[in-house]
Amino acid sequence: MKRDVIIACDFASAEATYAFLDRFTEEKPFVKIGMELYYAEGPSVVRELRRRGHKIFLDLKLHDIPNTVQKAMAVLSRLEVDMVNLHAAGTKAMMEAALKGLTREDGSRPILLAVTQLTSTSEERMHDELLISGSITDCVCHYARLAYEAGLDGVVCSPLEAGMVKEQCGKDFLTVTPGIRFADGQAGDQVRITTPARAKEIGTDFIVVGRPITAAEDPVEAYRKCMREFGIES
Ligand code: C5P
Repeated sequence: MKRDVIIACDFASAEATYAFLDRFTEEKPFVKIGMELYYAEGPSVVRELRRRGHKIFLDLKLHDIPNTVQKAMAVLSRLEVDMVNLHAAGTKAMMEAALKGLTREDGSRPILLAVTQLTSTSEERMHDELLISGSITDCVCHYARLAYEAGLDGVVCSPLEAGMVKEQCGKDFLTVTPGIRFADGQAGDQVRITTPARAKEIGTDFIVVGRPITAAEDPVEAYRKCMREFGIES
């Protein structure tokens, strides 16, 4: 799948999501649906977005015993989304089971990504609360390696870690990176941020962009600017 900008549709309802996407009359953005919208609306919102022709990253971050994750992934696979994810902390056995569950009878399946360490976890809390020693970077690279060995397609990580992940796991191992801001934009609650142009230089495959587009005065223009800076002709 080729490089793209994914819009994080962090809306509370299907109506709000459709109203936002209706503004895009010339392009069909790749969209990310997270827990809030999925738990509010269920699979119907996924089906409708597919019917409208959007590619979909279903960001539900599964983490449970291998058997449960395998079965849940089989259900998600039938929704025909393009990308799903899980927590690498669930172990390699869980990731392998997920891959099995996701694979359809004809061998096709959505892209499967692993979340390494959430960008909201500080190194101090990782040490003190999760009892993981070493640096966050070490942990991210270790989890990326586990995901790679389990056969996953890539990881969700900070853009600032994408280069290291590629060094560890090869250039074809996908990096999907949130934490994107325009040079003149507001950081909001994000800390480790990068511009679309810098994300392109680092070599990340997909950027996930929420508020810089969804809260912009002109979301379509903001999306186009993002695509341009990330080096994609829309
Ligand atoms: O609005 P903003 O551009 O910060 O949105 C980023 C999106 O990426 C949100 O949906 C957020 O939940 C998600 N995300 C993130 N950091 C991670 C994983 C996901 O910001 N480590």
